[in-house]
Amino acid sequence: MKKLLTLICACVVFVSSAQNQYNIIPLPQTVTPQKGQFVIKSNTNIVVSTNDPAFKQVASMLADQLGAAMGTTPKVVSSNSKAVSNSIQFVKNDQLTEEGYTLNVSSKQVSIAASTGKGAFYALQSLLQLLPNQIFSKEKSTGITWSVPNCSIADAPRYSYRGLHLDVGRHFFPVSFIKKYIDLIALHKLNNFHWHLTEDQGWRIEIKRYPKLAEIASKRSQTVVGRAYSKKFDGKPYGGYYTQDEVKEVVAYAKARFVNVIPEIEMPGHSQAVLAAYPEFGCNPDKIYQTATDWGVYEDVLCPREETFQFLENVLTEVMELFPSEYIHIGGDECPKKQWKESRFCQEIIKRENLGDEHGLQSYFIRRIDKFITSKGRKMIGWDEILEGGLSPNAIVMSWRGTEGGIAAAKENHDAIMTPGGYVYLDHYQADPKTEPLAIGGFTTLEKIYSYEPTPTELSPEQQKHIIGVQANVWTEYMQTSDYVEYMVFPRASALSEVAWTKKELKDYSKFSERMKVHADRLEKLHVNFFKGFLK
Ligand code: ACM
Repeated sequence: MKKLLTLICACVVFVSSAQNQYNIIPLPQTVTPQKGQFVIKSNTNIVVSTNDPAFKQVASMLADQLGAAMGTTPKVVSSNSKAVSNSIQFVKNDQLTEEGYTLNVSSKQVSIAASTGKGAFYALQSLLQLLPNQIFSKEKSTGITWSVPNCSIADAPRYSYRGLHLDVGRHFFPVSFIKKYIDLIALHKLNNFHWHLTEDQGWRIEIKRYPKLAEIASKRSQTVVGRAYSKKFDGKPYGGYYTQDEVKEVVAYAKARFVNVIPEIEMPGHSQAVLAAYPEFGCNPDKIYQTATDWGVYEDVLCPREETFQFLENVLTEVMELFPSEYIHIGGDECPKKQWKESRFCQEIIKRENLGDEHGLQSYFIRRIDKFITSKGRKMIGWDEILEGGLSPNAIVMSWRGTEGGIAAAKENHDAIMTPGGYVYLDHYQADPKTEPLAIGGFTTLEKIYSYEPTPTELSPEQQKHIIGVQANVWTEYMQTSDYVEYMVFPRASALSEVAWTKKELKDYSKFSERMKVHADRLEKLHVNFFKGFLK
């Protein structure tokens, strides 16, 4: 009996101390700790047992990261032999799912199996998180044993769509930051970067056919100070846009990290900056429009003329040349209908097309754009207002005003992505507003975002399949700098990653909080200016 107790105690001690070393975020589907460790030495090779170039690319990323930290870069070699000792081996296994992987660590070898480069990349992310955290420092670290605790991991994501958004319209962020953001997306096994490129307050992408978008729409004369409608302005011109070469650079950078970049070109609302450059696409072409200088929702919207559709199709054609993404986001949210109500032209279309009212006209607008995007072999995403007046046949809905939009879309057999404001809006306060920098409002703690369950129980199992994933949104009215963005996004995006990746039954906030303590050190080493209040 005494022996048995000792054995049980020893096992408990082993498992709990072993588990402390398995601080992977997002939590994998299964982690089986084992005794012992694999030590990476200067003569450890990285062996790739497939000709798939994506696996070679991932193997080289591992070699580079180890090289930077250890001071000697492991060799990447090809071999068909299955178990090469003192190696980290990449093997292709077509039985695994597209994003799934296995990671087996023994004292002799690390073996990674996946069916695609994506799976291999996610295995790499887990492997890095099993190594000492110094692996995340860009500099060489001395005196470290580069050991990986023995274990067996089998992993795959819960949702196929795992997104993080960034609004670069209200405030503009340089390409260097966009790349850092993509690195952090990839670290958390998220796979979509939703790049919100156009706003009332600034258009941020070069379109060759319409040069005034860069010359005029990307600039505003000044910016409101403090809260919206404060009537105080800073008097400083503000602007910025990404050249097409920069966009290509970002898309390629993201692709190498298995992140898809979804461009968002807003229409028909949130378009005041477009009208500042091209007033002929508004309902009141004689009006002098200006790129917005305050936050909020504006009545100056695009007018559904043939010339406007031609403009949008030309813009989207250039956008689709730059972005290989299957998904193209067209906004569709918060389009006040006042100008359409007052426009004789709009009222005539409503009558001619039998649209009923201005909501029908919005639906007509979106349907035309959906048809165009679909004709190019892509899929249109819109915010949930695109449900108003009837959903276009191929549209995917991003449910932001709660979950109703996603539920309605799924019931109509449309795919939906859940981004409800109350849970996954990272412009909300994360702690007591009295102690926090200015934010738009709301209150979304780390625990609250962690608690979010994206698949609504009111849907049938068949309808639930249309909930393809979840995304957190980052609106930047009150985030003037990239440091500020990092502060608002992390660690809440770490919690999001577990909502998106980890099976519901495995989620546990107190265990996540423990793992977050280790993960916080990684964020520190990656020079992320994250919110630290949760560590108290
Ligand atoms: C949104 O937050 N207006 C989509």
